[in-house]
Amino acid sequence: MGTLAGKRIVIGVTGGIAAYKAVEVCRRLVDAGAHVSPIMTKGAEHFIGRSTLSALASEPVQSSLWDEESPIPHTRLGQGADLVLVAPATARLIGAYAAGISSDLLTATLLATRAPVLVCPAMHTEMWEHPAVHDNLATLRRRGVHVLEPEAGRLAGGDVGRGRLASPEAIVAAVERLLTPADLHGRTVLVTAGGTREPIDAVRVIANRSSGKQGYAVAAEAASRGAHVVLVSTVDLPVPAGDVQVVPVETAAQMQDAVDRHAASCNIVIMAAAVADFRPVTAASGKIKKDSGAPQIVLEATPDILASLGAHKPAGQVLVGFAAETSDLLANAQAKLLRKNLDLIVANDVSQPGVGFHHDTNAVTIVRRHGEPLTVSLSDKREIARAVVDAAVAILAPHSEP
Ligand code: C5P
Repeated sequence: MGTLAGKRIVIGVTGGIAAYKAVEVCRRLVDAGAHVSPIMTKGAEHFIGRSTLSALASEPVQSSLWDEESPIPHTRLGQGADLVLVAPATARLIGAYAAGISSDLLTATLLATRAPVLVCPAMHTEMWEHPAVHDNLATLRRRGVHVLEPEAGRLAGGDVGRGRLASPEAIVAAVERLLTPADLHGRTVLVTAGGTREPIDAVRVIANRSSGKQGYAVAAEAASRGAHVVLVSTVDLPVPAGDVQVVPVETAAQMQDAVDRHAASCNIVIMAAAVADFRPVTAASGKIKKDSGAPQIVLEATPDILASLGAHKPAGQVLVGFAAETSDLLANAQAKLLRKNLDLIVANDVSQPGVGFHHDTNAVTIVRRHGEPLTVSLSDKREIARAVVDAAVAILAPHSEP
């Protein structure tokens, strides 16, 4: 089960140098579980081979209204789609679509669909800034077409400027956003991610093995469902697409400060970070020299951020903790849920292969205050995130205010 499981996506590829990136987009959509039907324009065939896209998509490339026995492939594709994506979209395609001209299979499909349409333009800066292109996109937007704007960067022929196709990650995230229920629209979700680092001296820290990947996946999932996400993070991973505000921190004390500033106004708080339990009482201001022998480092307990959130939890707020365990998973998680006054705790047995720190996969048991525990077997961290967010949304009262 991927984030796009069961979704039928038509990907239209037009003739720009960025057509090669459509191959990566197609692969990612298929990996996420979508059924992808590719359409290439004649122009696209100058840039990539039909067989490349056919091999990666869920069915062979089509490019003509007259390839099939039945001369209506555009209505089959248009009516059956959950979403039509055009990446890259040239100025020609945008103009034809805005004018309602059906001159090939892709434009015919765009006119024959009632599904959401996402257009990802890519062209030279001069073309991108031309008033004709600007007006055509304004027309499409007015009609409800979604446009993922190009980025600035290197263009064909060595030019640099605005007009480069959005990255495959950003395109797939936009597709996910459009195909995911916006059940967190208008809600604010606080997520913490990564392991804290507690200074010993100017150069050394006590750290842990957390990569922050699970927390970022939770943030990406919440943002894709329409939430405003405050992501308190100790790591420097790519910021998830959508309305995500990153608050960088390093130590447990800084994380507590950031969480305290934001938590009270959040509908859901998900503490995915691995917060150090102990820190040096004092950190030397310079570097401790090795000639003076091994230092004695005296540790003290850090504040338990989650426990204090639980103690001051506003009515209606859903509070979620994580528990990395190596034994007695369920019993330990259940005890933690009660002790810290949580609504959910996501327990993972980090001694299992492929589970927890640094992996792209995880396997968890979501322990709930009310109801049986939910087990999610080894899956991608984004799928784990989806299960966690689903469980939190299920508790969230309609229109509850923290
Ligand atoms: O008790 P334990 O550290 O196993 O609990 C883990 C959960 O508590 C995680 O959600 C973690 O983010 C949170 N935590 C915290 N502050 C600490 C230690 C853990 O918020 N000092």
